[in-house]
Amino acid sequence: MNKIIWITGAGSGIGKALAMAYNENGNTIILSGRKKAQLEDVAGVLSNAYILPLDVVDEQAIAAAVAEVEAKFGKVDILINNAGVSQRALVTETSNEVGRQLMEVNFFGSIHLTKAVLPLMLKSGTGNIVGMSSVAGKFGFPLRSYYAASKHALHGFYEALGLELKDTDIHTSVVCPGRIKTNISKNALKGDGAAHAEMDPGQAKGVDVDVCAAKIKRGITRNKAEIYVGGMEILMIYFKRYTPWLFRFIAKRINPK
Ligand SMILES: NC(=O)c1ccc[n+]([C@@H]2O[C@H](COP(=O)([O-])OP(=O)(O)OC[C@H]3O[C@@H](n4cnc5c(N)ncnc54)[C@H](OP(=O)(O)O)[C@@H]3O)[C@@H](O)[C@H]2O)c1
Repeated sequence: MNKIIWITGAGSGIGKALAMAYNENGNTIILSGRKKAQLEDVAGVLSNAYILPLDVVDEQAIAAAVAEVEAKFGKVDILINNAGVSQRALVTETSNEVGRQLMEVNFFGSIHLTKAVLPLMLKSGTGNIVGMSSVAGKFGFPLRSYYAASKHALHGFYEALGLELKDTDIHTSVVCPGRIKTNISKNALKGDGAAHAEMDPGQAKGVDVDVCAAKIKRGITRNKAEIYVGGMEILMIYFKRYTPWLFRFIAKRINPK
């Protein structure tokens, strides 16, 4: 009911689908991402949208964006740190610079925005903070070494934060999608920082993005600490947890594309 929902990476894929899913009950959706034109397209189909272009790597821009949101709305009910970039390169091919870039967007971008929004939530005493991980945040996978590392790091951070907030009505959730049909593989970085620019076959057969968004929304509403969404690949989370040998046996045989 009349919630203020801030979504990063809202111009495409899962972020866009989440914006549509929350387009109800007088909610206002704050749309962030770097490409303003994409955010405008999404805003065009929403009832109440506020376009706030933001590069999550830019700490000064984060501070300015949060000040703008505070002045305009006074609160944030749900923050969804969805912005992210994937990787399609072997460890030996990936430059340190590209590796750092993946950590900057996927890990520091997420936690810096969370830290900046947290005082607003603490003031209102309630809220949901969402980190967008991946199944690659639960197990390593070829061609995604830094990506997996950046997503694993989110789990440690948001679990710690959730425990620090245990006496409040502020909840942290970490989402682990499997393969969802978006342009993530096209936008993924090769070892030299160029775009992979290919729709991977596994990606093309992924779960529908609106189905994914509905499941994420349900998990957030239930204050779930971890939300899993995807196809059979979700089983690998459980194999890794309960039968690590079976996880390794299967993981070695999966086509990483
Ligand atoms: N699709 C999958 O199978 C899958 C699986 C597991 C996890 N995920 C995660 O889901 C999230 C969304 O991915 P997607 O599948 O929807 O792919 P996507 O369409 O490529 O979306 C990524 C979004 O992140 C934004 N972004 C990238 N760098 C940014 C930056 N520095 N600052 C602000 N925004 C930035 C992009 O917008 P701009 O370029 O306009 O900035 C884009 O809207 C990511 O965190 C991804 O890791 C996806």
